[in-house]
Formats: sequence, C-alpha cells, structure tokens
Amino acid sequence: MASNKKLLILPGDGIGPEVMREVRRVIDWMDRRRMVSFDMKEDLVGGAAIDARGTPMTDATMESARAADAILFGSVGGPKWDKLGFDMRPEIAILRLRKELDLFANLRPAIVLDPLVDASTLKADVIRGLDLMIVRESTGGIYFGEPRGVETLPDGQKRGFDTETYTTNEIERVARVGFDLARKRQNRLTSVEKANVMQSGLFWRQVVTALHQREYPDVELSHMYADNCAMQLVRNPRQFDVIVTSNLFGDILSDLASMLTGSLGMLPSATLGAPDASGRRHALYEPIHGSAPDIAGKGIANPLAQILSFAMLLRYSFGMDEDASLIERACTNVLASGLRTADVMAPGTAKVGTSVMGESILRELDKLAA
Ligand code: IPM
Ligand code: MG
Repeated sequence: MASNKKLLILPGDGIGPEVMREVRRVIDWMDRRRMVSFDMKEDLVGGAAIDARGTPMTDATMESARAADAILFGSVGGPKWDKLGFDMRPEIAILRLRKELDLFANLRPAIVLDPLVDASTLKADVIRGLDLMIVRESTGGIYFGEPRGVETLPDGQKRGFDTETYTTNEIERVARVGFDLARKRQNRLTSVEKANVMQSGLFWRQVVTALHQREYPDVELSHMYADNCAMQLVRNPRQFDVIVTSNLFGDILSDLASMLTGSLGMLPSATLGAPDASGRRHALYEPIHGSAPDIAGKGIANPLAQILSFAMLLRYSFGMDEDASLIERACTNVLASGLRTADVMAPGTAKVGTSVMGESILRELDKLAA
C-alpha cells in the first residue's frame, strides 16, 4: 500500500549515518508493531555528497526535499572538507534546504530529563525540571543578508563584511510562532535582540511589541538583550518559557541552552515552513549536535537526539502525538534504567555504545506497547 507519509532521510557526515541507523530501526519497529509505514528515500548531503558528486547537495536531492512531507536530517561537515571554497562547504546543504524550502522557524527545545539532572555541568537545583523552547529565525538575518563579501580597500588592506537585515514580515511570522507556542505552554515569551546597539535589533523590538499589542495581548511578553540572555540562561534558566530570536543569536543561544541539559547529544530540533493554502508545509528535523568528527566511526555517539528528532517529526508533521510520546518515554526510561552513552555518563550508570542504546530503546518500546 502506498504510504501518504513521504520521508526524505539525509544522514550526512560524521556521526550522522551512525545515529540515523538507530532511527531506521525505530522506523522498522513502527512499521511492524504500529502498522505505520513511510514512503522513504535516502540521499547524500554535505561532505558525503561532495565526495561522491562534487557538490554539497545536488538539485535532484533538492527536488526530493521539495516533494517530501518531512525531512530527517543528520549532520554535515568535518575537517576533511574545511579547506574547500566558501560555496563548496558541506554546511551549504543545510543552509540551502532552510532557504529554498523557506523553513523560517527553527524550534530548539531544551528539556532536562529527570534521569539526566546530574549529567549537566550546572548544579542540579538550577536545572531540574527545565523545559524551555528557543524559536530561532532561520532563513534571514546575517546568515543570508546582502551585501556580504571580502573587498580590497584603496590602501591595499582587505575588509570582510556581512549584513544583518530583517523585514517586518520576517520578524512577524517568526514572532507569531513564538507567541502561539507560548499560549500552549506557560504563556510567556522573551524576545531577544541587541536593540541597544543594532538598528535591526531596535526594529525587531518595535515590530514584536506592535504585534503583541495587536494580536497577542494575553501573552506575557518581555524583551532582553542577547548578551544578558546568555548570562540569564546560565544564572537561572527556568525563568524562560519561550525565547524568540534572530538567526545568529539563536544559533549561539541554542548551543548554550542545550548544554544546560547535560549533552548536545540529547536535543532534537524542528524547522518549519509556512503552511500553504492546503495546509501542507515543509519541515525538517535534525539533532542540534553537529557531525562530531572526533568520535565518528567509533560507535559511541549518542543516538537519542536523532531519535527524538524523529519523534518531533511524527508530532509536528503527521500529528502522531501518541507515537511521538511513546518514543520519548522509551528514551527517558532507558536513561532512567542507568544505560548511558559516554556523553551523558554519571556515577553509577553503565556505559553503552550507539547500537546497544538503539537496541535498548526498541526493547523499551516493546514493553511500552505490550
Ligand atoms: C546549527 C549549525 C548550523 C548553523 C551550521 C552547520 C551551518 O550550527 O544548525 O546550529 O549555523 O545554523
Ligand atoms: Mg549551531
């Protein structure tokens, strides 16, 4: 039977393929035990595509991405490709997917699971129960702004430059995602910029303030400078519910926030486009961690962020809340049972590799679904 759930799987480089293998096992499990089948296609991106095809992502892959209902992305990049020209970097693959599919809202949750309270470098009292959501704008700002480049000045020295730009619409649409999410959570939104030094930051603040008055007066809105936000995230992260911010600040603050939870290896993300007239929207799901070249190929990477990204995919793209929760619960229970990959080890827990972690998730899923 043809499935109406078209998935494009892009494992990428480094630990990407290793952790994606564990997701494939979860997908097989769903097929067998829950009768949910996906129409799956797998393709190369990043350094793997550069090696095989001479480009970080072919147009054919871009077309598959456009046709897919959801994209599950691994990670791209590594030292092998660091010396290539700017337009040939593996990272171009993810940037192009975000831009061409107009995936403007990057949702990056930072949740501290109870069994992992002691894996954080912060004190347990500060992070216990943490559940915050960063909404990062992901198709605009300095990542894509023009002009950009390196020019030679009259005196012979060079000048490198990039441009931060945001339009009213770009700010409003990502802020709406933040306000809507806040309404489903604790109803608090913090908008983050540098209105004290950047024109575009002051503009961002004005647009969010006006939108709040017009459409979301019931949500508690506050504004914060990005540097202060970094400090507050470490000082008292539980003060936040939803944070909405620009592409660059979101990139930095989400790495910071993820580490509050103990490991980058734990956190999934979703990047959503705008729904079209028929309600369909492009969406990409990826772990926050990168390709981790230092541990690639050793079978020790934590597959949980990739598996949890798949759970987010089920929830946001297919409305399969129950299946998503099942997978999330399986991950928490396995951690609670004391099995850990090296990145989230704590005294009294047992160290396992990538595939044993994957197997344990399947066993737990069997138990939960029994
Ligand atoms: C991320 C990554 C990417 C980014 C890189 C790989 C281009 O750091 O998703 O946070 O900067 O957006
Ligand atoms: Mg990043």
